Amino acid sequence: MRLSPILDELGVYPFVKLDAAKARARSRGIDLIDFGIGDPREGVEPFIRGALIDALEGTAGYPRAAGLPVLREAISDWLGRRFDVKIDPDTEIVPTLGAKESIFSFAQIVMDVAGGKDTVIVTEPGYPVAARGARFAGARVVELPLRRELNYVPDLDSIPAQLWHRTALLWLNYPNNPTGACAPASLYVRAAALAREHDFLVASDEAYSELYFGDPPRSALQVADRNRMVVFNSLSKRSSMTGYRAGFIACNSEVADALRLYRPTIGTAPQEFVQHAAVAAWRDEAHVERARAR
Ligand SMILES: Cc1ncc(COP(=O)(O)O)c(C=O)c1O
Repeated sequence: MRLSPILDELGVYPFVKLDAAKARARSRGIDLIDFGIGDPREGVEPFIRGALIDALEGTAGYPRAAGLPVLREAISDWLGRRFDVKIDPDTEIVPTLGAKESIFSFAQIVMDVAGGKDTVIVTEPGYPVAARGARFAGARVVELPLRRELNYVPDLDSIPAQLWHRTALLWLNYPNNPTGACAPASLYVRAAALAREHDFLVASDEAYSELYFGDPPRSALQVADRNRMVVFNSLSKRSSMTGYRAGFIACNSEVADALRLYRPTIGTAPQEFVQHAAVAAWRDEAHVERARAR
């Protein structure tokens, strides 16, 4: 049978391999310290679970890709409180089923392979989903190394203009998985300037923005001209809600329109009862204090 050659090329998803390796080791009686998939062990706060349960009764029919206005507002308010940015809840926020699916599929709305924008740049080592999604979208993937001597921040100026010219998307991920590095403000400023100059988007995976020691990490949304910045975040790590699948994309209204055009086709709209739980979580002001107390 002929199936996509990309399946073979990419092979088994690394965390599926790790799960199998862990099961094999445990079956041999080995006691493991698990550095595998980042699933928080803290439970979901009772008031968040309650919000989901209360919303179940009123939920009927398909959720829409635009998401509930009350959720978009809660996200916009949180972004305002946390990063001091103004993001329009109606035109600049799209709720997602956690960050992962949106990171995987994002290249599909950006690539213009025939038009010469055929490249996605990812950082290496890195969360594998952006590169894998880009491959399925027909992109050429270029890996930009993260080096210890540069504090695991990519050297954007090492990339020649011809490569930028072909680039549709540059992925950044800070706080970084797996290095734990945080981004200096200058990284986002430089990325935004290059994106403007060479006509590409900067996709900033900020799934770990709320897990930190010391100063709170910054967001790519904080650059003066955020027109080319597309930020992905989620409640998975912040509120231990990996199982709920609740995230968002914040971006300019043109990209958000494209997402609202694309996403109904694949049906990636979060369940409305999850959206109500997410409203409670994004409005939760005390989560930092609770995390510190643990
Ligand atoms: C760097 C990074 N981004 C995104 C995600 C996806 O998180 P979620 O889909 O649960 O929001 C993960 C999950 O571990 C991650 O490590």
